[in-house]
Amino acid sequence: MTVTALLGLQWGDEGKGKMVDILSAENEFIVRCQGGSNAGHTVKVQGETTVLHLIPSGVLSPKAVCVIGHGVVLDPAQFLDEVATLEGKGVDVTGRLFVSDRAHVVLPFHKLLDQAQEDARQGGKIGTTKRGIGPCYEEKASRQGLRVLDLLDEDRLKARLGAAADLRKKRLESLGTDAQGLDDTVELYLELGRKLKPYVADTVAMLHDALNEGRKIFLEGAQGVLLDIDLGTYPYVTSSTTNIGGLISGSGIPARALDQTLGVLKAYTTRVGSGPFPTELACEVGQGLRDRGAEYGATTGRPRRCGWFDAVGARFAVQVNGVDKILLTKSDVLSGCEEIAICTAYKVGDKVTKRYPADSEDLSKVEPIYETLPGWTEDISDTRNYVDLPANMKAYVDRIEELCGAPVGAISVGPGREAIIER
Ligand code: GDP
Ligand code: IMO
Ligand code: MG
Repeated sequence: MTVTALLGLQWGDEGKGKMVDILSAENEFIVRCQGGSNAGHTVKVQGETTVLHLIPSGVLSPKAVCVIGHGVVLDPAQFLDEVATLEGKGVDVTGRLFVSDRAHVVLPFHKLLDQAQEDARQGGKIGTTKRGIGPCYEEKASRQGLRVLDLLDEDRLKARLGAAADLRKKRLESLGTDAQGLDDTVELYLELGRKLKPYVADTVAMLHDALNEGRKIFLEGAQGVLLDIDLGTYPYVTSSTTNIGGLISGSGIPARALDQTLGVLKAYTTRVGSGPFPTELACEVGQGLRDRGAEYGATTGRPRRCGWFDAVGARFAVQVNGVDKILLTKSDVLSGCEEIAICTAYKVGDKVTKRYPADSEDLSKVEPIYETLPGWTEDISDTRNYVDLPANMKAYVDRIEELCGAPVGAISVGPGREAIIER
């Protein structure tokens, strides 16, 4: 396999970081393609946890070349902080970490606006990560954005910042935010540009050279398909294309070069932020999943909402991305549940459907139809062979596979790199 893509198939935090870390040992280029520092990808190696927001999760593999593609919105200060943290841990990124010159830059303005817009949304808050992601993509689409290459040229930077400055101030003021607090000077950006320069590259050309040389390329998705701007639970979504299309357009790898699409599914469901969640367990069962699964946001620390596995949403995500293989994570968290429920369909009024509704309002009203499977009591976190798993757990995996319409290729049984079972 030359090009492999890996995506989250729920509302994010499925354990993508861990899976990318494992798979990147054998892949030469690891590419982030969309999203920004709203992502929090956790990797645990030899007991040490590292959370990555912008830098690809392959960075802990010493041979991986890590690329931040043009579809990502890059917060330069966050990126440089992350580099410093990695270097502090003894991870050398010299000559193997690159940022696209075409990537858009997240400005302090975008973060202030993200906050101001959330404050202004009476009642219907999205619960964003406040990392400026929506406003940055908004300015990219309206052709007012600043790109990484603009930070490297003083005249162009002045022109582009100057042209938008008034509009930006007015926008903040219209939402009652004092634009005086905006730390947005040409000097600041030139300084960030100088620090970023050693990493900046034409990553499209770089990846095409790699393709021509037959080197392996791994596209790392951020967020999850149900947070996709088009296919997700709009408006309770993020602002990027989190489906397979976003990995193609955000990297510059041609669609026909893709050999394999892997989809990561948590063995239950979580969601951070607002929006419909049919299988949510706002009770002690959900709290039990949160406690055992340590379900607190890797970016914001917010408690994640927890619920049973929703096969309607998961099947939809498998279908729209053409997932070849499912990687199932956090099944160890279900150990000890007497019974485990899977949502197989939704009841809408007196009708039963397996279709995923376009309208979040409709989704918030569906009644999940559950199938109940017997649980298992064994601690599986040290199990490494599929045959050694409890029979009830194997039956659970078989059922997920059947309902989602794709085979389960690997099962993760703990946060550590070694806690993986091939199937
Ligand atoms: P990502 O955004 O998809 O990379 O996922 P996050 O890192 O935000 O959240 C996943 C969390 O679950 C992290 O704390 C991981 O260390 C942890 N994790 C990943 N796989 C497993 C697993 O199989 N079992 C357990 N118990 N934890 C896991
Ligand atoms: P990873 O890559 C989980 C959610 C936010 C909010 C919505 C919009 O770690 O899986 P945004 O800041 O993007 O405008 O927020 O999207 N969200 C995530 N939830 N995991 C993520 O990333 C997320 N990135 C954004 O909580 O509901
Ligand atoms: Mg995460």
